[in-house]
Amino acid sequence: MNILKFESQQKLNEAGAGILAGLVQTNPRVVLGLATGGTPVGIYEELVDTHRKGMVSFKSITTFNLDEYVGISTDHPESYHAYMNHHLFSHIDANPARIHIPDGNAADLKQECERYNALLDDAKQIDLQLLGLGHNGHIGFNEPDHALMSGTHVVKLKEETRSANARFFNHIDEVPTHALTMGVGTILKAKMILLVVRGADKAEIVHQALTGPITTECPASLLQTHPHVVVLLDSESGRLV
Ligand code: F6R
Repeated sequence: MNILKFESQQKLNEAGAGILAGLVQTNPRVVLGLATGGTPVGIYEELVDTHRKGMVSFKSITTFNLDEYVGISTDHPESYHAYMNHHLFSHIDANPARIHIPDGNAADLKQECERYNALLDDAKQIDLQLLGLGHNGHIGFNEPDHALMSGTHVVKLKEETRSANARFFNHIDEVPTHALTMGVGTILKAKMILLVVRGADKAEIVHQALTGPITTECPASLLQTHPHVVVLLDSESGRLV
C-alpha cells in the first residue's frame, strides 16, 4: 500500500484529482469506480476545475458508482444520482450512456443487482476504484459482518451508518434503511484502488483497516490483500499510521 499524508485538504484534493485526471489523460477510455459522501467532494471540485481549464476530457470514460440508497427518488437531493450530477457529471463532458449508478427505486431490487453485475461484467475491469471509509470500516455500503457478499446486493444499513449520514438529511428518520452496493469482490477486482480518508474521527478505523487483522468485521481491512492500493489521508485521519 502506498500511504500518502497531506497537511492540507487542498493538497489532498489536488493529489486525488491529479491521479484521476492523469488516468483519463493516459487512457481516455478508462473505467472509473466512483464514490459519494463528504470525502470525495473536494476531489471532484478539483477535477471539474481541471476540466474547465481544458486539461482533461471525460467524453470516453465509463463510470460505475459504488452504491445508491433504496427508496428515495433520483431527484431527491441526497440520492447518489443527484449527488453525482451536482458534484461532477453536470460539470464535465462524460457521456450519460456510459455513466452507471444502481437504481435504488427498481421494482425488483434483486433483478437490479443482477443488471448492475452484468454491466460490470461487460466492462471487464474497473481501472480505478475510488473509495471513502465508514467509521465502522465499511467500503461502499459493505457493512461489517461475519461474511461479505462478492457482487452487487441489497444491504440493510447499520444504525451507525444512518446516524453518520443523518447530517445530509433534515432528520435521521429520513435516512433510508437500505441501499444497493457493489460487493467487495467487485471492489477488489479493480486494477487500482484509491482510498481517501479525512478527519480525526476516522484515525482509529484507518489504523485498524490498514494495519489490523484482515477480517470481514472491518471490510476495509480486505484492501490489505489488494496489490495496488493508494491511500490519501489528511494529517488527522493519518495520525496513527
Ligand atoms: C459512498 C460510500 C461510503 C462512504 C463512507 C464515508 O459512496 O460508499 O462508503 O465512502 O460512508 O462517507 P463520508 O465520506 O461521508 O465520510
